[in-house]
Amino acid sequence: MINMKIQEENISYFINLDKFPIHEPQSSKYQTIVKEAREALDYDGCYVLKSIVNSNAIKDMQHEASSIESFAHYTSNKVNVYFSKDDPSYPKDHPRRFFMERSNGFVSGDKFPEKSKIKDLYYSEILKNFIADCLEVKMYHYADPLASLTINVNKPGDRFSWHYDTNEFTVTMLVQDCDKGGIFQYVPSIRNKDDECYDEVQKLLHGDTSKIKEIKLNEGDLQLFKGRYALHRATRAEGNKTRNLVVFTYTEKENVIGSTYRTEELYGKTLDVHKQTKVRSDNLTD
Ligand SMILES: [Fe+2]
Repeated sequence: MINMKIQEENISYFINLDKFPIHEPQSSKYQTIVKEAREALDYDGCYVLKSIVNSNAIKDMQHEASSIESFAHYTSNKVNVYFSKDDPSYPKDHPRRFFMERSNGFVSGDKFPEKSKIKDLYYSEILKNFIADCLEVKMYHYADPLASLTINVNKPGDRFSWHYDTNEFTVTMLVQDCDKGGIFQYVPSIRNKDDECYDEVQKLLHGDTSKIKEIKLNEGDLQLFKGRYALHRATRAEGNKTRNLVVFTYTEKENVIGSTYRTEELYGKTLDVHKQTKVRSDNLTD
């Protein structure tokens, strides 16, 4: 509880409250931001709160991320958008059989130091409530101890191929940008809760770029993104600097845990909790 208090008192350290008064839900500024966020999220599932994080806080979190980036579980392999194995029962050109190069790493939630600025911000109730307001959902911190708070590490040359997220919404904060590349691309609502929409996915994978949207994130931006139904990727990181993207994961249901296969793939390990009965948000293939 004491930690929680300290953390909430320090929200002004993290957030530019003049521009984004996330601690004052009754203020007209707050309500204008939330309205704009809801409209954008309704429209294409994406909203960026530009420079919401103070530059000093970003510098500290950049340092923290760099100090643990060597713990990243690196994967360099070929994956399909569902992170599933090849299934010869589908036709050869089917999206489930379309494998792409992917190389990047994830620092899992258990690798953050006990005293962590990044953890403080993720577990801030003020921030969580504000984001929930923007997304118009009841929101919980992801119960998965590995996947709740992560850093996606892209060294020069790395890329993250097209994929969906396991959770309904993702909140990302760029703490260190690469020199060139690392552009976020997405295709809004390419699938839905009840339908994988394989035809649309197939078109994209076979070169149709007409529905791709692009965003160049800057250090200190916070991005709200509906990644469960939108295919997305980051283009190859180029130059000398590593791109470190902190991923805050929240779920609409309580106690959601990632699948064993997906967890093993991303973090190189699973815990007992992944093998036990778990709450999943829907029946889509990851
Ligand atoms: Fe993602």
